[in-house]
Amino acid sequence: MIRIAPSVLNCDLSCLAAEVKLLEDGGADWLHLDVMDGVFVPNLTFGPPVIKSLRQKTKLPFDAHLMIADPERYIQDYVAAGCDMITVHAEAVKNMGRTIEKIKKAGLKAGISIKPKTAPEVIGPWLKKIDLVLVMTVEPGFGGQEFMAAMLPKIKTLRQMIGQQKRKIELAVDGGISDKNIAQVVSAGADFVVAGSFVFKSHNVKKAIQVLRSKAEIGMET
Ligand code: DX5
Ligand code: ZN
Repeated sequence: MIRIAPSVLNCDLSCLAAEVKLLEDGGADWLHLDVMDGVFVPNLTFGPPVIKSLRQKTKLPFDAHLMIADPERYIQDYVAAGCDMITVHAEAVKNMGRTIEKIKKAGLKAGISIKPKTAPEVIGPWLKKIDLVLVMTVEPGFGGQEFMAAMLPKIKTLRQMIGQQKRKIELAVDGGISDKNIAQVVSAGADFVVAGSFVFKSHNVKKAIQVLRSKAEIGMET
């Protein structure tokens, strides 16, 4: 069953709680929170205070995608804010073993994300410890970018690498996901997709999530 985690990056941030309610009522599985520090990526969004206040407004599990430099410094802040999963970037972490351990010790799921130019093999040493791999299909920093079909072979490679682990690891894809490409992404091996613009541009969140689910079914049959 595909998991759909809408990203609020491109929603109407002036009424974030109401937008999240639409996602929850619209059948989202997770809430994808794009945290950006203006250093690791050339954009700045929100952090623990916003997440903490949002935590009171929804029951959706929180997936914090940390696009920040040296995220190990802040793991506890995202735990305290009420996240259920923390995904760090392989390119931003100084000590991956210690960072994953901090996330897991707090009882959260741990994910590693890789940028388009980063090879999938970078994830290899950590597959026995993590719960999710997040493949970026856009350059991180902004919503609304074009999906990078060149990432499909990387998704296939990671599906094979995960298959050798004989343990549950979600393979997630993030960036430019829409009804036009979700079937390909699922067919390549993804079982967890992040979608931002496609969900919010549709002006009917429930319908957009339903369309993604039905198109994903096609990908599961191929
Ligand atoms: C980009 C973020 C993505 C992005 C998804 O750096 O990590 O989560 O906001 O938004 P869309 O689906 O519009 O590409
Ligand atoms: Zn993201």
